Parts: sequence; C-alpha cells; structure tokens
Amino acid sequence: MSSDIIKDDDLIFLILDEKRRWLVQVKSGANFHTHKGIIEFDDIIGKNFGSVVFSRPLNTQGYKFYVLKPLPSDYILHMTRKTQIIYPEDAGLILLYTGIGPGSIVIEAGCGSGALTCILGNFVRPNGHIYSFDISEKSLKRAKLNVSKANLDDIISIQSGDIITDDFQLDNVDAVVLDMATPWNAIEKILNYLKFSGTLVSFSPTIEQVKKTVSKMKDNKLVEINTYELIKRKIQVKENATRPEVRMIGHTGYLTFGRKIKNVKNPYRERKPKENEFIDLNDLPLRG
Ligand SMILES: C[S@@+](CC[C@H](N)C(=O)[O-])C[C@H]1O[C@@H](n2cnc3c(N)ncnc32)[C@H](O)[C@@H]1O
Repeated sequence: MSSDIIKDDDLIFLILDEKRRWLVQVKSGANFHTHKGIIEFDDIIGKNFGSVVFSRPLNTQGYKFYVLKPLPSDYILHMTRKTQIIYPEDAGLILLYTGIGPGSIVIEAGCGSGALTCILGNFVRPNGHIYSFDISEKSLKRAKLNVSKANLDDIISIQSGDIITDDFQLDNVDAVVLDMATPWNAIEKILNYLKFSGTLVSFSPTIEQVKKTVSKMKDNKLVEINTYELIKRKIQVKENATRPEVRMIGHTGYLTFGRKIKNVKNPYRERKPKENEFIDLNDLPLRG
C-alpha cells in the first residue's frame, strides 16, 4: 500500500480552484511558482495527503491550496504532453474490458506522452509490467520523464521500437494496447506476443481507422470484436441551474477490442455432408 505521508519525490495534485491545478513532483529545498504565490515543498513534505498549504510570502499572498494524492485521471489530464492523449473515460473502459490489473503483462504502442502508460502502470502494480514502445525520440523522452515523475520506473519499460516492423522478445502477454495512426498494420505481429484469451485494444480517432482495424482483426481470426465510443457529460450542480455543462468534449475516439483464440477448424460444420454421406466422428471432439 502506498503511504499517506508526503515524501521527497512524491507526485502531488496541487489545487487552487477549478481551473488552476497542477501535477507536481515534490523536491525538498525547492519550490513551485504560481500566480498566487510560491509553494515551498518543505511546507508539504511530512504532511498527509489531503492537507492544505498556504502560498508564500504569507503576508502578501497566503492563498490556500489543497494537496491531494493524484488519481489515475490526473495523470492523463495534467501531465506534460504533446501528443493527443486518451481521456479518462476511455482509459476506464480499456482497463475493464482488457482485464488489465495487478500482475498483468502488457505491451503498449505508442507511448506518446506516457499518460496512458502511467495509468496502466498503476494498475498492474506490484508485480505486473508494461512494455511500452514508440518510434519517436521526442515521445520516448517525454514519456520516460513522466514515468519517472510518477515513480513507476520499475513497473514500466519505455523502449524505442516499431510495433509494425520490429520483433520483440516477448510472449504470453495478457494484453496489447494500441494508440497509433495505423494499428491494423501491427495486428499480425501482435498475435505472436499475445497469450490465448488475451485482449487487443486499439484506440483510434476516426471511423476509417476502425474499419481497417476490424477488418484486419477478422482476417486474423480474433473473436469478441467490438467497437465503442464513450461520451461523458459533466453536470453543473447549482441552485436553480442544475443541468449539463454547456461546453463538452464531443468526441475522443473509438475503442476496438478483440480476443485471441486457438484457431481450430470445426470438423462438424466445415462442410455440409452430402445426402446419405457417412462422416466418422471417432476421435473428433463432440459438439457441446
Ligand atoms: C497519439 S500518440 C499516443 C498517446 C498516448 N496514448 C498517451 O496517452 O500519451 C501516438 C504515438 O504512436 C507512436 N507511433 C506511431 N506509429 C508507431 C509504431 N509503428 N510503433 C510504435 N509507435 C508508433 C507515435 O510516435 C506517437 O508518439
């Protein structure tokens, strides 16, 4: 279990108000500058998550900030990022529909800024592992930084690699998570890494990508192929004005899932017997 006391190097979620909130790493002797004063990390270290801290100088600033333990969704929305990220609602479905959890071994491509990588890393703790690949040096650098900030270096390996063309020395993995432009080109190779019954999930912003991905999944005999789109609406709760917020994110992307199965031909249904034809069923498995 993680500690409730804030230590040097811990990641905290610092909140001033609805709009001003930051994911920051605590460093003893250092500080964090905001428009409402300076947060001294030494004022935070040793306190419990859930405490408050006042910005310095106290006589001219003295604003109250909440110090919370970051949630998985905070990794997504408040991490340093440059690539398009996966939103918390999509990450939630990925976790539930792949079964990624403590002990899972997962391949991810590409890692992008490492936001989803950190979420996956948090969920496979303490004995699982995320092998995350990307072809962009910039993405690899940013993701490594974010993974270190989240103190997940021993759970996540960020590596340079092309999931379409490279051969990774990995097998029997529980799940493969794809968030890249051409996922359909990676499917054939991915099946070499995935264990039977393991799940492949691909996130794509457009229907054109989904169609190509599903078609390739079918060609490669994956089963339980399903595509979803999630739309989340936030509700403003105010006296006499409780209603959905006016602005919302209208589209994040589509999630396509599929499972790997042993590809055995059905001896009973492969072809229709001819009239009066005898088929010897000895040594063949019985139809359930
Ligand atoms: C949209 S970003 C991923 C964002 C990531 N899910 C996040 O939460 O930050 C797509 C990434 O896929 C990488 N990529 C594209 N083709 C790839 C390939 N063949 N192998 C590995 N990574 C690839 C890109 O370099 C880019 O960093």
